[in-house]
Amino acid sequence: MGRSRYPWLGLLLAAAGTGYFLCWFSAAWGSQSSEPERPAACTRPLAAALQRHSRFQQLFNLSSPVLLWGGLLTPGLWADLSQLRGPYGWRRVSLQAIASTLRLLNGSEGAELWAASKRPPCVRCAVVANGGILKGSRQGRHIDAHDYVFRVNGAVIRGFEKDVGTKTSFYCFTVNTMKNSLNNYWDQGFRSVPKGRDVRYLFIPASIRDYVMLRSAILGVPVPEGRDKGDVPQAYFGPGAAAGKFKLLHPNFIHYLIERFLNSSRINRGAKDIYIPSTGALVLLTALHTCDEVSAYGFITENYREFSNHYFDKKKEPLKFYANHDLHLEATLWKDLHQAGIMQLYQR
Ligand SMILES: *[C@@H]1O[C@H](CO)[C@@H](O)[C@H](O)[C@H]1NC(C)=O
Ligand SMILES: *[C@@H]1O[C@H](CO)[C@@H](O)[C@H](O)[C@H]1NC(C)=O
Ligand SMILES: *[C@@H]1O[C@H](CO)[C@@H](O)[C@H](O)[C@H]1NC(C)=O
Repeated sequence: MGRSRYPWLGLLLAAAGTGYFLCWFSAAWGSQSSEPERPAACTRPLAAALQRHSRFQQLFNLSSPVLLWGGLLTPGLWADLSQLRGPYGWRRVSLQAIASTLRLLNGSEGAELWAASKRPPCVRCAVVANGGILKGSRQGRHIDAHDYVFRVNGAVIRGFEKDVGTKTSFYCFTVNTMKNSLNNYWDQGFRSVPKGRDVRYLFIPASIRDYVMLRSAILGVPVPEGRDKGDVPQAYFGPGAAAGKFKLLHPNFIHYLIERFLNSSRINRGAKDIYIPSTGALVLLTALHTCDEVSAYGFITENYREFSNHYFDKKKEPLKFYANHDLHLEATLWKDLHQAGIMQLYQR
């Protein structure tokens, strides 16, 4: 808990309940001010909701590092991850390939999604997936009102501003999902990933392609090798993208998420080698481990049959259940987290 992400969390968890916390808080303020301020206007602080829910309290470990950066590459980490196959493992990948990328993520910016100095007292995040439930939802204003907005894969904005908003703080992807989205949703308007001064890119390291693209993006050079050889990263992320613009999800954080939250029975039914959580699931769980309040938009709900696959589909298409994902498991997880008051799932 010692990290700056939740400076007050240790205290909160140490206290037996909200009562203790408020007592401590008013004691701390009482002498200076006749009207004690409330501990930031977090109406649904995630950590407090977690405390009231024994199953989720046991699942969440808010101290596992979410991002990987140079300072975390130790011989121990290399030994662990080089045993594991992809996705998210480093077997058959050279130490040089990993180290040459992580070396570039060596500043404090690589370690945190947002600088502690820019941290509002209550970090409110919206995670916007591609689900058809958003079409005609008019949620754009609500989405943009969050401190940070995470978007994934086919994050079409133009023409859908009223429904999905315009703000993007983090675009989150694997190179594979980004390029598939650009190919598959080009006709639906996805011609570019979100770009701009305030946009950050969160790489999900599913394979060596992600490390190679990330390194090339920070160095501002074409991809020198592998499947994406010759790609110009600036074409995706804009010119002059500095190291601080890029973040990398920690493979061990992904392994922890899969074990605790996304442990699909498919893993034990022969689909072990192809099973991966959806990009949206990894990103929503990332937000749940880093923000104080999380709203999820465009994620699967019980009544998914009423909506198209994506909000940008030109005509209604059924949600696709691919063999490598387990959307039923994810749907149950979102519903349970919503009911536990740990996040707000947009439903209609
Ligand atoms: C939480 O994660 C940290 C860092 O990975 C680890 O040291 C700690 O033992 C974990 N705690 C629990 C209760 O699993
Ligand atoms: C961090 O990486 C940059 C290159 O991106 C390098 O110039 C700098 O010396 C490195 N700093 C440390 C502390 O390793
Ligand atoms: C994952 O789920 C399977 C059953 O589907 C169970 O046998 C296994 O112990 C679970 N693993 C963990 C780490 O919870």
